[in-house]
Amino acid sequence: MKKIHPVVFPARLETGLQSYLAAYPGDKIFVLTDENTRKYCLPRISNLISNSSRIIQVKSGEKNKSSDTIIYIWEFLRKQGADRKSLLINLGGGIICDLGAFVASTFKRGIPYLNIPTTLLSMVDAAIGGKTGFNFGGLKNEIGTYCLPQTVIIYPPFIGSLDREQLYSGFAEIMKHALIGDAGLWKKIINRRKELSVPFLFSLIRESIEVKMKIVSSDFHEKGIRKSLNFGHTFGHAIESFCAGKGINMPHGYAVAYGMIYESWLAKKLHRLNERSFLEIKECVIRHFGHFQIERKWYGPLYDLMLHDKKNDNNKLKISLINKIGACDININTTKTDIYDTLAAFYKKK
Ligand code: GLY
Repeated sequence: MKKIHPVVFPARLETGLQSYLAAYPGDKIFVLTDENTRKYCLPRISNLISNSSRIIQVKSGEKNKSSDTIIYIWEFLRKQGADRKSLLINLGGGIICDLGAFVASTFKRGIPYLNIPTTLLSMVDAAIGGKTGFNFGGLKNEIGTYCLPQTVIIYPPFIGSLDREQLYSGFAEIMKHALIGDAGLWKKIINRRKELSVPFLFSLIRESIEVKMKIVSSDFHEKGIRKSLNFGHTFGHAIESFCAGKGINMPHGYAVAYGMIYESWLAKKLHRLNERSFLEIKECVIRHFGHFQIERKWYGPLYDLMLHDKKNDNNKLKISLINKIGACDININTTKTDIYDTLAAFYKKK
């Protein structure tokens, strides 16, 4: 199968990047960073960036994945004379990759861009597959486009400096890839009884990316099988958005991990997944991510958030559910009762 865009793993980041920059004059290369990647990651490539006035810095954090930040980046590019021959390098985690890709896909109707993901989550998910976007009206990635990067450069040593929460957040997406498309990868994951380590996570990156690449290469615009990448995300996105509104810390990957427990239970309830697989998934998520308790009064707001899910059709909730470890069905009609039953199945009186 032809891959939709290249993903490269250079031993040295500078050498890997150099060949892509050759086609662009120095003053046409822009780098999007946040305060963290500017400090910790940019020095790895700064020899190649001749003009520091081409470095765009935005604030980190989900609340800055906004239209204001997009406008700031458009303005920056305009003022610095960027044109259609300019290149935008997105150096950062999922937020930077999504924002930068959106800007690249819209500025002057599209300029080329490269993703250099610096978190585990963005290496295995956000930087791959050409989805772009930002949050709007309290909803995640509500506005966005599809636009392919020139390439994605994976430099795993970046994950050595991530904190535990960031590592586990990326691990949740690796679990998801295993559950929807690679039973062998899942075996490796459940056989790991110890705390996750950076070398262990390194060893999963390639296989995880392969699952995603195979799916997006066959369905770029998410008309079908790409929806399987949303396993865990109907509940996960709702939990994440709800927690954000309440000021509760809920990293994306953790929300997806809990979402995978709920959605596996729902798959079992609908006789699509066997009990053993459900229990295996539940045990694995709880072992790594702990428990998350949802209060009864949250069911309504969570359900309302799910109604905004982009996979829905004619206001009908559609969900992606695995039918065994390594295989996923899409477009499954789901009722309000299904959602409430699922949440209630995990309710524990305090
Ligand atoms: N993160 C899901 C997708 O790229 O389709």
